[in-house]
Amino acid sequence: MDDGWQDLIALTDLHRGWVTRATLGNRVLAVHDTPGGVYVTAALCTHGGADLCDGYFDGHLIECPLHQGAFDVRTGAPIGAPATRPLKTFAARVLNDRVQIRLT
Ligand code: FES
Repeated sequence: MDDGWQDLIALTDLHRGWVTRATLGNRVLAVHDTPGGVYVTAALCTHGGADLCDGYFDGHLIECPLHQGAFDVRTGAPIGAPATRPLKTFAARVLNDRVQIRLT
C-alpha cells in the first residue's frame, strides 16, 4: 500500500545541527536537523529565491543568505523581514535511520 511516504536522505548524510540540501525528483528541499527533530521545507526563499541551504541555521530558525529574511522551519512561518510569505513545509519522519517525507 502506498501511504505517501517517500525516502529522502539517510540520517548519516545530514549535517548534524544544521541544514542539508536534498533532492526528490525535481524538488530541491532543505532538511533541518533541530533539537526537536528533523523538519523539511522547500529550499528556496520565498522572498527572492535564494538557496536557504547556504544560509545561517540556528536551532529552528533559518536565515536567508541573500537578504537575511528568516523562517521558523517547524512551520515555515516568516519571522524576519524582508520575508513575508511562508515557506512550504513537508511532513517528515525518521524510519530505519532515514528521513522520509510525505508529499501532498
Ligand atoms: S531572497 Fe531570501 S530574504 Fe531575500
